[in-house]
Amino acid sequence: METTAIRFQYRGQVHEVTDQPTTRTVLQYLREDLGCMGTKEGCAEGDCGACTVMVAEPDGHGGVAMRAVNACIQFLPTLDGKALYTVEDLRQPDGALHPVQQAMVDCHGSQCGFCTPGFVMSLWGMYLAHGPQDPAPTRTQIDDALSGNLCRCTGYQPIVRAAAEMYQYPAVEFDRDALAHVLASLRRDDVFSYTHDGHTFHAPRTLAQLARLRLDYPDARILAGSTDVGLWVTKQYRDLPHLIYIGQVRELRDIRQDGDDLVIGAGALLNDAFDALIRHVPELAELRQRFASYPIRNAGTLGGNVANGSPIGDSMPALIALGARIVLRRGDRVREMPLEDFYLGYQKNAAEAGEFVQGLRVPVLVPGRQFRAYKVSKRFDQDISAVCAAFAVTLDASGVVRDIRTGFGGVAATPARAWAAESALQGQPWDEAHARAAMDAVGQDFKPLTDMRASSEYRRLAARNLLYRFYLETSPGAPLATHQVNVANLAELA
Ligand code: FAD
Ligand code: FES
Ligand code: FES
Repeated sequence: METTAIRFQYRGQVHEVTDQPTTRTVLQYLREDLGCMGTKEGCAEGDCGACTVMVAEPDGHGGVAMRAVNACIQFLPTLDGKALYTVEDLRQPDGALHPVQQAMVDCHGSQCGFCTPGFVMSLWGMYLAHGPQDPAPTRTQIDDALSGNLCRCTGYQPIVRAAAEMYQYPAVEFDRDALAHVLASLRRDDVFSYTHDGHTFHAPRTLAQLARLRLDYPDARILAGSTDVGLWVTKQYRDLPHLIYIGQVRELRDIRQDGDDLVIGAGALLNDAFDALIRHVPELAELRQRFASYPIRNAGTLGGNVANGSPIGDSMPALIALGARIVLRRGDRVREMPLEDFYLGYQKNAAEAGEFVQGLRVPVLVPGRQFRAYKVSKRFDQDISAVCAAFAVTLDASGVVRDIRTGFGGVAATPARAWAAESALQGQPWDEAHARAAMDAVGQDFKPLTDMRASSEYRRLAARNLLYRFYLETSPGAPLATHQVNVANLAELA
């Protein structure tokens, strides 16, 4: 098969690469081939942020989108058509430090320094997003921007102070127009095909090209944000002979309103998809912030979360409770089903050979619907759920349940609805007695596993009690108002 060089811009030059494995990570290439050692490796699984770099690509509207991502789990061919920035790029032409770096020095934000380049890159991302002339980022925004960076020795207070103070130094402009020009020169209209040592990497540009490739190569692995797949390589050493990368299919990034539904392309980044959902369903703000970390959400997609179908995936309980439908495509055929029906068993789903997830259709305009999503995990940020639960209820004028939907993660082999609990509530008054009956029914719905995260008993109890919490927050005269419990200081992220 004919191969094409991977082309991307780095440190003022267009790099053309033909001799690297398809699953070589950006971090390995930087350190081992280019000798650029500023970017560090801590965990090689997206958890610590030592490898944070910035990737720029066209934003689809004539501008440029720049995002902090984890280089340790991004494969090199995904850089084709993009620009890469590392901590080495922050050095100013006169050798001076960038304000982000100077603030870190002046605020004593670094001790051993291993984590520092990663923090600096995340801070640079925030510096670009909130220019010095904009209102300063709030503490919540700073914490969110740094949620993917771990520091083992300095402590976070000086780093957070540097984040607030970096705007007080003379501003350093970034020339986005020049970058847009470079990116335009790297643009391709045809499928990008790269091969190395019998391995293939395809990157279609359009939905039609993707549908064709998927039919031609049903055994190829679809690659989206690589935040699950990347770890199969760096941690499990899996061989992936053929990848079809969907990150260049612009149509799959689209998020649009269609009547009462939000239609979210499978390639929409988690940050973008959550932003759009939160505009209609602000109660999702906390789940968004607690989903992985900011750089993981900058790379990972909503479609990838749903397609991966992990029983502890966080978006599915909420999407199921909201009544989302999954949109599947095979060639020209498009079909839809309720998201809960997509999951057939542990790591088994209803997609046919040659089919892929095109997107999700989420009913967001439902008058009178009350909704909550809860994640139970040991840490606030960047942790895997022991239990995740979401509930949506619509009551009639007399306080009777007209519609109830639940979605649970961590309590069964797949994300699932608690059917028995729902039927205990449907058509019944939304009161303490019925809420308690539904809590008992949750015990019939699920037989959770015990693992290192939580015991079966703990999970069952948490699932029951989350339903009770939902009742307490939403029942008539509820003792717990929304702003007191769920979205409090997170409203500013919505
Ligand atoms: P990829 O890794 O590219 O793909 C995942 C799977 O989906 C693959 O099997 C791929 O073939 C398939 N796939 C992707 N797109 C499609 C498509 N359009 N059609 C068909 N198949 C497709 N997840 C959580 O739920 N909650 C968390 O808090 C969380 N924290 C994380 C923290 C870290 C540090 C990391 C590394 C991961 C975390 N994850 C978490 C998991 C991961 O980020 C999510 O599952 C993410 O949504 C995956 O999306 P992706 O685009 O990266 O998928
Ligand atoms: Fe830890 Fe990449 S090395 S996130
Ligand atoms: Fe040592 Fe952060 S300064 S890990």
